[in-house]
Amino acid sequence: MLYSEKVMDHFNHPRNVGELPDADGVGQVGNPVCGDIMKMYLKIEDGVIVDVKFKTFGCGSAIATSSMATEMIKGKTIGEALKLTNAAVAEALDGLPAHKMHCSVLAEEAVKAALADYYTRRGEPVPPECVIDPEDACPLCG
Ligand code: FES
Repeated sequence: MLYSEKVMDHFNHPRNVGELPDADGVGQVGNPVCGDIMKMYLKIEDGVIVDVKFKTFGCGSAIATSSMATEMIKGKTIGEALKLTNAAVAEALDGLPAHKMHCSVLAEEAVKAALADYYTRRGEPVPPECVIDPEDACPLCG
């Protein structure tokens, strides 16, 4: 079987899909490999991510990895969320086929972009961990 049971579960029943109208940080990123787009909304209180939602115009692996990523950062501190890597998300899903690993990058980068937005809105400097390598930026959405 190409996809693990966990990937199929998160694809068929994605967690935390939607928008947060009162989000404290919103991040949108595009995948330069396929052009797919991911939007992440974070509600942050006292440095803790108390709620998170995502929307994606992306493939099944993008949906599954984002769903898992939202579960992994909900209730965590900003510092913990910044340590989330796409490899850790893929591992939590019992792996992804090699040619779909690029899809998991969307989730990690959307979290970072949302946190960067959170700091920008507060007028605070954006931590270097939030900065996405411009080489990876999507030609569609920058
Ligand atoms: Fe675009 Fe998976 S093919 S995110």
